Amino acid sequence: MFNKADACAKIAELASHIAQHDYHYYVLDTPTISDSEYDGLYRQLIDLEQQFPDLVTQDSPTQRVAGAAINAFASVKHRQAMLSLNNAFGDDELLAFDKRTADSLGLNVVDYAVEPKFDGLAITLTYENGLFTQAATRGDGYTGENVTHNCRTIRAIPAKLHLTHPPQLLEVRGEILMLKKDFERLNQTQAKLGAKLFANPRNAAAGSLRQLDAQMTATRPLHFFAYGLGEVINAPTYNSPLNSPLKSPLKSHSEAMDYLAELRFPVSDLRATKQGAAGLQQYYAQMGALRNSLPFDIDGVVYKVNNFAQQIELGYVSRAPRWAIAHKYPAEEALTIVEDITVQVGRTGAITPVARLKSVFVGGVNVTNATLHNEDELRRKDICIGDTVIVRRAGDVIPEVVAVVIENRPADVRQFIMPTLCPQCNSHIVRLPDEAVARCTGGLYCPAQRKQAITHFASRRALDIEGLGEKLADLLVDANLVKSLDDIYKLDVAILLNLERMAQKSAQNIVDALRTSKQTTLARFIYGLGIRNVGESTAKDLSAHFGTLTALMAAPHEALLQVNDVGPIVAESLLQFFAEPHNRQVIDSMQQLGVHWPENAGKQRIDGLLKDKTFVLTGTLPNLSRDAAQALIEAAGGKVSGSVSKKTDYVVAGSDAGSKLEKAQSLSLAIIDEDGLMQLLQSN
Ligand code: IVH
Repeated sequence: MFNKADACAKIAELASHIAQHDYHYYVLDTPTISDSEYDGLYRQLIDLEQQFPDLVTQDSPTQRVAGAAINAFASVKHRQAMLSLNNAFGDDELLAFDKRTADSLGLNVVDYAVEPKFDGLAITLTYENGLFTQAATRGDGYTGENVTHNCRTIRAIPAKLHLTHPPQLLEVRGEILMLKKDFERLNQTQAKLGAKLFANPRNAAAGSLRQLDAQMTATRPLHFFAYGLGEVINAPTYNSPLNSPLKSPLKSHSEAMDYLAELRFPVSDLRATKQGAAGLQQYYAQMGALRNSLPFDIDGVVYKVNNFAQQIELGYVSRAPRWAIAHKYPAEEALTIVEDITVQVGRTGAITPVARLKSVFVGGVNVTNATLHNEDELRRKDICIGDTVIVRRAGDVIPEVVAVVIENRPADVRQFIMPTLCPQCNSHIVRLPDEAVARCTGGLYCPAQRKQAITHFASRRALDIEGLGEKLADLLVDANLVKSLDDIYKLDVAILLNLERMAQKSAQNIVDALRTSKQTTLARFIYGLGIRNVGESTAKDLSAHFGTLTALMAAPHEALLQVNDVGPIVAESLLQFFAEPHNRQVIDSMQQLGVHWPENAGKQRIDGLLKDKTFVLTGTLPNLSRDAAQALIEAAGGKVSGSVSKKTDYVVAGSDAGSKLEKAQSLSLAIIDEDGLMQLLQSN
């Protein structure tokens, strides 16, 4: 038990430790203790404050979420107006700004402080005698709203100034925002709760700040960046902050920012100073390149004449300073109308709903389509045909519909209905219970999937048809010469000669390659069909297990599960593929056209020393090609798999082995080199 004096000292110590950890965690982004240690300190403080309620101070960490919900926001008259910035769009306006500024100041080259333009909400924080007493939004610039209770919950905002002799009054100006990663997480939580999703981090920050109940704001991960000072009264200690004396008085914006950092406010480390228009252009390009990878949204950069005396000399015009300008990046979001929703068939049969939009200029280009990803996503966002939506295009990322503007919804909107048949080939569209994506089951028959199917079928490890690559597949499908996969065996020299830039000799080569490929193996043929989830290794297992295609095609679910490495997902893919009549017809036709393989050839597994051992090959081996190594392993009864798992027996690593080797090491698997493999094979 503490007596009151000890409790008082302990409470002060705990409060100061917690403030210190908040600073490390929220401002410096480098926590120095674990969450549970932090919680322990917090607990102790709460316990003591409960025992000694009259020792609770206004700046105690426990008071960040104290107090009942309010009914409305009180208005706050700003001591100094919160002005806005003029914007420069494009180089001309920037050059004009710099010239005007230099001319007014009679300088050749102006020194600027430059920083990101944070895309959040402006705020003024007031500290009286070092204590945080008020937070006010910008409002109309002269009168804002009192959001003190909510800003107290933001841990990046110090509850008191880190100064022994604080000024009587100090106003800090800056931006409240939400980090992108916190926004994503918040929306995931909102989705789980069935609550409203926020369109972007800015809206999420605004919604969170304008809560009447601070308990609610406290659950929202808000952040703050300081970008300037407001009113400062009686600041004898400007030059004597606690730890490192600052040059006094503050002569420039960059000194003021350093000072705020000393006082433990979050100040962006992307701030810099630049000279003249060329320096500004360079900064604009540099931040533009970083924009997408920054942890928070920015909508431009801000240039401020650095020297305070020069700022005063330039003064203000109407509601904006003459000494600063915002240089905006192209907007990444815009409003437009969903004119229709159609579906696109991807190369693997994935059916993607796509919003057909009224053309809108966003992210620097005209956007007319935006992917809606899948049906769940579309329903979650509640997007209907006729809706007004927010479209986002950030960097080179494909445009997406962020949210519907529900207030603009017309009475006659139409719901999107997922088609049951593929618009390209009329095959069934199915969606497996655990999958987000619906797929066309047309497989080989669907024209949208045909090009991919042809190149896969012809690839080296499948039917190995030399000369039939992507280019020829495109030509064949575009000329409608190959409507289904079996059509490739109906091609002859005369037909091929009709294709663009096809010479007699190459046409003959292709026809020869087609003929040669007809003599194949069951494993190659199964692999070549391009059945979802059936790779080369599974195809070999299936061939070895069933021996004939007829047996495989007749196998029910349970029989498929008996096969090495075949689980419910692979089994389901096989069943669906063979259930589609088109696929059976194509297979039948190819056999009619002469594609054949020795039946039951692979059925007996070789009983070597490597029987049932699984290998993974990674990196470049000194002598053996990958194919040669695989053939040797398989000849000794082993299996080669493409990915490392607990079930892998050996990882054969050559030079430049990457993530597979790392994974093998982390799973403590047997890792051997080419010599090791040769020894294994010889002992075999
Ligand atoms: S300085 C008198 N610096 O942009 C100039 N503003 O139109 C005061 N903003 O609502 C503003 N980042 O919230 C300044 N680094 C920055 C800023 C910034 C974002 C916002 C500010 C204001 C708007 C100005």
